[in-house]
Amino acid sequence: MSSAPAYTPRHGAVYPSLAGTTVLITGGGSGIGEEIVRSFARQGARTAFIDIIEEPSRALVAEMRAEGHEVVFERADLTDIEATRGAIERIRAAIGPIAVLINNAAHDERASIDDVTPEFWDSRQAVNLKHQFFCAQAVYKDMVARGAGSIVNIGSFAYVAGVENLTPYLAAKSGVIGLTRGLARELGVHGIRVNCVMPGFVMTKRQLDLWVTPEVEKTIYERQCLKRKIQPADIARVILFFASDESGVCTNQAYVADAGWT
Ligand SMILES: NC(=O)c1ccc[n+]([C@@H]2O[C@H](COP(=O)([O-])OP(=O)(O)OC[C@H]3O[C@@H](n4cnc5c(N)ncnc54)[C@H](O)[C@@H]3O)[C@@H](O)[C@H]2O)c1
Repeated sequence: MSSAPAYTPRHGAVYPSLAGTTVLITGGGSGIGEEIVRSFARQGARTAFIDIIEEPSRALVAEMRAEGHEVVFERADLTDIEATRGAIERIRAAIGPIAVLINNAAHDERASIDDVTPEFWDSRQAVNLKHQFFCAQAVYKDMVARGAGSIVNIGSFAYVAGVENLTPYLAAKSGVIGLTRGLARELGVHGIRVNCVMPGFVMTKRQLDLWVTPEVEKTIYERQCLKRKIQPADIARVILFFASDESGVCTNQAYVADAGWT
């Protein structure tokens, strides 16, 4: 592998349209989601997130508060649609009608073909696809009233790349594209944009703890055009763009942020 010369990226885009905007993020308590929460809060957005994990979520709220940002956390299991609706109601009461929705939460539990039961299959669709629709359904009227809105659904490069023992997850993630295109068509008349961002192999804590061995690192560098690791903040930056007015005519699309793997 020939590596590129050392270069330090200079980040720091500011999106004036996000300042003061209300943003709801699912799965904001860890992984890519926590970086999405930080990124919106630092843009001055009125930021709220739903997660099932309490302690890391509360620690993130405290971290943001120490930086001078008010971030709202509601605990809910997103596979419980009634509980999710209740959490969204409380978030709306706290930060106001929702202008931006980032459907980020998922769970990539693996199982080989013989281990997939009907119950496991359904649970994977519930945690990786179903709540994306019902969160959109719960907030889109806020966006209709505003005459604008942005929904970003997080997909995955994995269903294009092909990853072993992940078939139910990959089916759900390809479903995110269909969900995106259906909602974009249905909601575009109200000025609501709906896009999908498909991350590549991202160095989240979960990935590092479970999967990033020296052999996997070798594969990553072989397959990616860019010979560097993708960090959660790299994905959050792409999401900020699709949430902001700078992507005002982008809708009904899926953008792959995988350093050129696929
Ligand atoms: N990390 C990667 O390499 C990668 C690659 C491609 C796509 N993605 C996608 O990016 C998104 C974020 O992935 P990640 O790697 O940060 O995942 P992660 O597992 O590290 O974090 C997911 C977050 O969602 C929360 N969550 C999971 N199930 C929930 C439930 N039932 N109710 C409420 N919250 C729940 C978790 O508690 C966690 O905070 C996902 O949509 C994932 O499919 C990730």
